[in-house]
Amino acid sequence: MLELRDIHKQWDHRPLLDGVSLRVEAGETVALLGASGSGKSTLLKIVAGLDAPEAGSVWFDGVDITALPPEQRGFALMFQDFALFPHLNLQDNVAFGLVEQGVRRSEARNQARIMLARFGLAGQALRKVWTLSGGEQQRVALARALITQPRALLLDEPFSALDASLREQLRTEFRERITEAGMTAILVTHDEQEARAMAQHAWGLQGGKLVSLW
Ligand SMILES: Nc1ncnc2c1ncn2[C@@H]1O[C@H](COP(=O)(O)OP(=O)(O)OP(=O)(O)O)[C@@H](O)[C@H]1O
Ligand SMILES: [Mg+2]
Repeated sequence: MLELRDIHKQWDHRPLLDGVSLRVEAGETVALLGASGSGKSTLLKIVAGLDAPEAGSVWFDGVDITALPPEQRGFALMFQDFALFPHLNLQDNVAFGLVEQGVRRSEARNQARIMLARFGLAGQALRKVWTLSGGEQQRVALARALITQPRALLLDEPFSALDASLREQLRTEFRERITEAGMTAILVTHDEQEARAMAQHAWGLQGGKLVSLW
């Protein structure tokens, strides 16, 4: 279980997060909705360890991880501006995290091809990233996030650059892949329909506090 306890964060001497507490059960997806500038991305960065709160703590399975650096948290991130490596092909993008973990490159590439096939990209392992459409790139980004079997998946508006019909298609696909992996996830989104399609619970971030939506 992922847990935030009474997180406080200021920006420009004003409280941006003003006592945020949240629990995400194992295998559950929780959506975080809120106006632009309300602090959603900041909250996700605090969960990821990319930003530090002034007060409060982050817990995972009963362990306080507030002081752990991002790479030791075991979380996978997919942010607004997903960053695939444009000069690498699909399989090397997806294999990247495994190679980092010390898996042999040939084995990592095998696993990457299996993962790509599950994302409807079988036979495209050698394509370069820059030849892909936006939706294909997002699929590759999720495949890359899931292949290392992270303890939690943090998604910050993963479909914001895509057109409406592709967003609908991908939200269903992503939900299936996330469920299949039994993944614990936080989804930041502006889109209530997207939240309903992907998350079991939703919270709104308003005035630095979380309000339960459903
Ligand atoms: N490191 C930073 N640099 C610049 N601005 C920051 C930083 N951290 C927080 N802010 C400010 O804090 C506020 C919240 O930003 P944040 O990115 O968390 O909002 P958001 O809810 O994700 O918005 P959006 O929906 O537009 O992505 C903004 O006003 C932003 O300018
Ligand atoms: Mg944001």
